[in-house]
Amino acid sequence: MPVVCRPARVDDLKQADEIVVASINELTERRGFGKMASSHPPNFQAFSLRDDAEGLWVADDNGEIIGFAWSWVCDKLWFLAQLFVSANRQSDGIGNRLIAKTFVHAQMRGASIKALITFTFNNVSQGLYIRHGLFPRFPIYMVSVPRDRLASRLPEPQLHLEPLTGKTAGFDELALIDLSALTVSREKHHRYLQGDGATRGFTIHNGGECVGYVYVSDGHIGPLAVRRPDLVGPAFATALSFAARSNSPTVSAFVPGASEPALKTAAEHGMRITLPMLLMSNRQFGDWVSYLPRNPGFM
Ligand SMILES: CC(C)(COP(=O)(O)OP(=O)(O)OC[C@H]1O[C@@H](n2cnc3c(N)ncnc32)[C@H](O)[C@@H]1OP(=O)(O)O)[C@@H](O)C(=O)NCCC(=O)NCCS
Repeated sequence: MPVVCRPARVDDLKQADEIVVASINELTERRGFGKMASSHPPNFQAFSLRDDAEGLWVADDNGEIIGFAWSWVCDKLWFLAQLFVSANRQSDGIGNRLIAKTFVHAQMRGASIKALITFTFNNVSQGLYIRHGLFPRFPIYMVSVPRDRLASRLPEPQLHLEPLTGKTAGFDELALIDLSALTVSREKHHRYLQGDGATRGFTIHNGGECVGYVYVSDGHIGPLAVRRPDLVGPAFATALSFAARSNSPTVSAFVPGASEPALKTAAEHGMRITLPMLLMSNRQFGDWVSYLPRNPGFM
């Protein structure tokens, strides 16, 4: 039987995650970065499937999943969270077939912006996306630092964090911050993060004014968004101070190359680049000085 690209079902998600992890590790090992990925419960995938099933597709070879594509839409933004083909089945047209399915999703939802984050060192994925009209915009660096090294060089934070509750900021207020940084509301994704027991959300305050938000899980910072570009350095430094008090052995974040103040803060705190990635899109959008993504899938 030929390979079939069909809508993903909830019971496909674990196997899809396994091929994603194996495909990332095959690529990062081949390029000298070592194994970078490990399996996690596919909670955000399951959330997206419940929210909008048209965005998740598998390539099925007689019952075996050999490829997975997953896109989500917020307002006018379509984002390709994952596109992966098993290492031993690549370069055979499956990626092209899967991307075509997810583009139909973008069209159905009327999304005018298409974007994704891919590996800077993968010429195949970049070539595929350029052929489909998505062009490189700027690097996004995954950065990290051992927590004890970070703790020894922290200045007093200029801003302060308050646990995110309905009292400190409603979903409508978070949506406004996203609208100013990204030009779209991600209210449904805030609901997802706040329902996820492993992630802690905070509003960021400058005196009495709420200037942004940040989420932290296991020493990983992001997403982080602020209302004005001049606030991103102090906001990131404040989040680093908080993460330095966790039990996690390392503290990490994704920092856009477009955000000079955030990159400067990362360097000043001894953070090292662990993985270079790249934002690709069909057109410029958002203020990427003021927004730090969570990871390449959540954005
Ligand atoms: C990227 C990936 C999903 C593509 O799937 P695939 O099934 O191998 O891709 P296809 O065979 O359908 O198409 C590959 C395209 O890349 C293009 N390509 C390959 N090498 C290229 C290069 N050096 N320069 C430019 N384009 C290149 C090919 O031209 C081809 O398109 P075309 O044949 O239509 O011209 C798959 O290779 C993969 O999983 N890679 C590892 C993980 C990854 O990087 N995923 C993307 C994360 S966002």
